[in-house]
Amino acid sequence: MRIVLMDESHVAAIAELEKLCFHDPWSEKSIATELSSKLSLWLVAMEDDTLVGYVGSQSVLGESDMMNIAVHPEHRCKGIAKALVTTLVAELAARGNHSLMLEVRPSNAPAIALYEKMGFSQVGRRPNYYRNPKEDALILRKEWHI
Ligand SMILES: CC(C)(COP(=O)(O)OP(=O)(O)OC[C@H]1O[C@@H](n2cnc3c(N)ncnc32)[C@H](O)[C@@H]1OP(=O)(O)O)[C@@H](O)C(=O)NCCC(=O)NCCS
Repeated sequence: MRIVLMDESHVAAIAELEKLCFHDPWSEKSIATELSSKLSLWLVAMEDDTLVGYVGSQSVLGESDMMNIAVHPEHRCKGIAKALVTTLVAELAARGNHSLMLEVRPSNAPAIALYEKMGFSQVGRRPNYYRNPKEDALILRKEWHI
């Protein structure tokens, strides 16, 4: 498995994985727009020529937000998300950023376990943040020295 920067060739596969993993998926067009945004950094995990996971972020004034992360159901529990987050933090730090924030559903136990393992801590809660189904969001954050 290797982790590389997202390019045009990955957009359709990311959109497919979004549809598979989320009730409210990003469209192919929205994902493609990230390629031309100077604020955005998206990484993909590739097994040979197959896209098996991705993570997307946006950064402003040294503070980064994780927009989304997903791993294909057939490739989960093999350390791919851990590798994506580790590489994302390294790449964000190399670009001068010092923190990473994200929202997660309190019911999403695998994702919360991943983030706790990666050193994120809860810093807040947004009531009724998610739709379909309606749920609060936990706000998690990790910071590092650059
Ligand atoms: C959350 C998700 C990205 C994890 O991907 P993954 O590649 O399977 O995760 P990893 O194999 O790298 O696991 C890393 C750590 O996360 C935790 N974890 C991952 N899946 C878990 C599960 N099903 N149950 C409990 N803990 C889990 C473990 O602590 C694991 O560390 P360990 O292997 O040393 O025990 C994946 O389940 C997914 O795509 N879910 C659907 C999309 C989603 O919910 N995204 C998050 C939105 S906020």
